[in-house]
Parts: sequence; C-alpha cells; structure tokens
Amino acid sequence: MESEAYPGRPVRNASNTWQRQSFAPGDGIPALDALMQVLHAKDGYTASHCRRVSSLTRLAGPRMGLEPLELRTAMLAAFYHDIGKLGIVNSVLTKPGQLTASEWHSITAHPTIGRELLESFLSVQRAALVIQQHHESWDGSGYPMSLTEEEILPEARILRVCDVYDALVSERPYRPAYAHSEAIEMIVNGIGAEFEPEAAEALLTITDQLHKAA
Ligand SMILES: [Fe+2]
Repeated sequence: MESEAYPGRPVRNASNTWQRQSFAPGDGIPALDALMQVLHAKDGYTASHCRRVSSLTRLAGPRMGLEPLELRTAMLAAFYHDIGKLGIVNSVLTKPGQLTASEWHSITAHPTIGRELLESFLSVQRAALVIQQHHESWDGSGYPMSLTEEEILPEARILRVCDVYDALVSERPYRPAYAHSEAIEMIVNGIGAEFEPEAAEALLTITDQLHKAA
C-alpha cells in the first residue's frame, strides 16, 4: 500500500522546491551514468543489482524515518554503490569459485574507489560518504573502516541491508539464488550484528509486502 511518504509523489525539499522522489538514470550525474554503462558491459549483474538496490532503498528508507533529502541521497548512493567495482579486475569480479585472501582484499577496495569517483562531484559529497560506508556493519565487523552503530550514516545503514537482501536472492557465479524465506532468515539473524535493527525491520516489512504482491 502506498502512503504519502512513499516515492513516486513529488515532495518539497529543504530549499522549498519540488523535486522528484524517484531516482533513475538521468536524475544523477551523466558522467557517473556513463561509468555505470561501462560497469554493465564489464559485469551486467553489478549494474542491474545497483538499480534494484536503489528501488529497495526508495521503499524501505521512509520506513526507517529517512527525510526526503536523506532518502534521495540514499537512493543515489544505492544506484552507484558498487561503481568502484570498475577498479576490480574481471577475473576476480566474476570468479565462479571462492576468492583467495588477496582477491578478497582487492574486492574490499571498491567502497573507497566508489567514494573517490563520486567525491569529484560537488553535488554528491554525502552520497560519496554513504558509498564508502556501504559494507560497514552495525557491530563494527564490516569494512573498510570498521565503523560501529551511529558512526555509520543512516543512509548507509539502509543501503547495507537492501544490498545484502538483493545479493542473497540473486543467482551468483558461485551459488544459486536463495529463496525469499531463506534470505529473510539470514537478514533476521544479522539484526544487531551486520544490520541496524530499524533498517532491517524496514527492509523486512517492504520485502514482505513485495513478496505477497508478487
Ligand atoms: Fe558493494
């Protein structure tokens, strides 16, 4: 059920101008959209995953109390969150088997590469920080900075759980897709560890609605 806080309706932002609350290619930075096309050619999964995670973030963000401008930042960050994978070699990015320690280490650079790409653009500085934090965990076990709880921006907390859910229900080169129920169980098990409780609850609510509507 759509409520007033849900996307698709125009909202007033802090400077009192109307803005769209949806986010799509063309709403962002053309140079970054071009880089996303390159990423799509390199690894189709990552680019389409970013799109789906942005949609999930759009729905779940208001449920954890994100204000419209925070929501837009979260959606924009979600849309570009794995853009730093452009800096990861294909043999690692699409490897069908388990990664070696050094391959895993190279993957952990992608949030920082993503932040560096976005921070060249003045209008997306906060989204750049959100991207840097999208693998941080509520209990400090994430990367690259091992941030904990309130040190992690709210937009990055919702992005984190939306990212994990979409990855779990997607087929990957190294495993089949998990069923919705299995993914939900894993999200629930991660509450308070990987995931901020409110962000996880928001994601669980909207995925439950989406699953029932499907
Ligand atoms: Fe990522």
